Amino acid sequence: MIRKTIKLITVAWISALAMGFQSAFALSLSHETVIPSELVQYVVPRFSLKTRIRFDRVESAGDIQLVTDRPETGVEILQLVSGETVYVTAVGEAVESSDYQAFVDWLVSEPGRATIADFELDGQQIAIPATAQEVAPIEMVIVGNLENGRELSHDHCRRCHKVDRADKYAGIDNAPSFHAMRSFDDWYIRFSTFYAVSPHKALISVEGSGIEKDRALITIAPIDLKMDDINDIVAFVHSLTPLDLGKPIQFNP
Ligand code: HEC
Repeated sequence: MIRKTIKLITVAWISALAMGFQSAFALSLSHETVIPSELVQYVVPRFSLKTRIRFDRVESAGDIQLVTDRPETGVEILQLVSGETVYVTAVGEAVESSDYQAFVDWLVSEPGRATIADFELDGQQIAIPATAQEVAPIEMVIVGNLENGRELSHDHCRRCHKVDRADKYAGIDNAPSFHAMRSFDDWYIRFSTFYAVSPHKALISVEGSGIEKDRALITIAPIDLKMDDINDIVAFVHSLTPLDLGKPIQFNP
């Protein structure tokens, strides 16, 4: 009786284990033979170590495939020194899988690219990671009236921000100067949306922005602007010389 119970438990345990494995190895991965298996063997376990996502390695026709012919969908990940470009692609439902997405994201990420570049065969680097995707530049259309923007900035923003570089008044402590903010890559977005973020949210109303204000909650002199005014401020800020905040810190000089 006891024996039988133990047997039953063992069977249950083993099948649970098998099922566990099955979900852990849900997707299979194959690669073309022109792609050195040593490289795949080097890169994939490092991804698995990082993410705990494992792929079942198969000879061919995997759910995920590393291929050298540009696939219909898929992402370029590296170039072999022998000349071929290698892409990662998925077939069937695997395309939608979060494991596949995580793999692609990792391959083109800084750590993934570093792993690819690290690999050596007979002391030689054989794979060059694909260049990081350039973020498409935001197309800026400056349509505002610069002079009106300057006036608005002096009237309203100077309460807290240093708006003019020559101005002795330095603004309040935690409000960055306009010149400093002008040096941010995303200054344009920040100046187009500042009225929606704290602390402005509490005191600046922009007609036509769709953001309603409960005037009773505004305790200091409220600032009323129109959407056109925002464009004018953007045009004014565009004209400012960005403050040089120095190069980003280099951790790896
Ligand atoms: C009551 C003081 C005050 C006024 C008035 C004010 N600001 Fe600010 N602003 C701040 C502070 C404080 C911050 C920093 C917020 C932070 O770091 O979280 C800030 C941040 C900003 C930012 C950066 C927002 C971001 O996304 O990081 C922009 C852009 C900005 N202000 C523009 C303006 C403009 C334009 C005006 C005038 C129309 C203005 N501010 C009026 C206090 C003010």
